[in-house]
Amino acid sequence: MLFLSILVALTVNTADIDKKPHSGETVVESPEPKALVVYYSRTGTTEKVGELIAVALNGDTEKIIDKKDRSGVWGYIVAGKDAGFGNETEIEPTKHDPSDYDLVIIGTPIWAWSMAPAVRTYINQNKGNFKNVVFFTTSGGTGYDKVVPSMEDLIGKEAIFKNGFLEKEVKDDSPGMVKKLNNMIDFIKRHFES
Ligand SMILES: Cc1cc2nc3c(=O)[nH]c(=O)nc-3n(C[C@H](O)[C@H](O)[C@H](O)COP(=O)(O)O)c2cc1C
Repeated sequence: MLFLSILVALTVNTADIDKKPHSGETVVESPEPKALVVYYSRTGTTEKVGELIAVALNGDTEKIIDKKDRSGVWGYIVAGKDAGFGNETEIEPTKHDPSDYDLVIIGTPIWAWSMAPAVRTYINQNKGNFKNVVFFTTSGGTGYDKVVPSMEDLIGKEAIFKNGFLEKEVKDDSPGMVKKLNNMIDFIKRHFES
């Protein structure tokens, strides 16, 4: 975990070196965006990606807690039904105000080709309080493009960046996951440079 975090940060910093000015030029340090990473995670996959992004961006994290018991076979079935029908749920009060941040990155596991109910509830509770958003998903195979448009509709703005991670590539710490993470972090840093 620690190794991977360092790897993500290192690769991004290496890319930044190319932009260093030659001697005599003025160095203008561009501050990193103030970032909040918000995620719901039932079994830890989305949490792992969210925490890696937060480390790489030096951001804060908000783990959404669903008050509904989603454990066991019955929990799984009801979770799929709730997500598929676009139901909301009850969530624990959150700690951070998204309007305090330049960027809010929101991660959800894909349930029944939809966002998790806890993420739907979070977005609804905080509507109008997001300056810029990035969305990411984790799933067993369904692509982020199946879910992110509905998140954009719900939040009322287009994400500046979006991507999806497969559960297997996250569990395996695969090079594919590291590459996607680096692409995301690199894009975000460059976006806020200007
Ligand atoms: C109720 C339920 C429904 C799911 N539906 C899908 C689906 O439609 N497509 C898919 O690829 N994966 C589906 N999955 C798998 C999860 O998206 C995947 O395991 C995810 O990475 C779990 O994230 P987490 O560990 O953060 O909870 C589903 C999982 C659950 C629990």
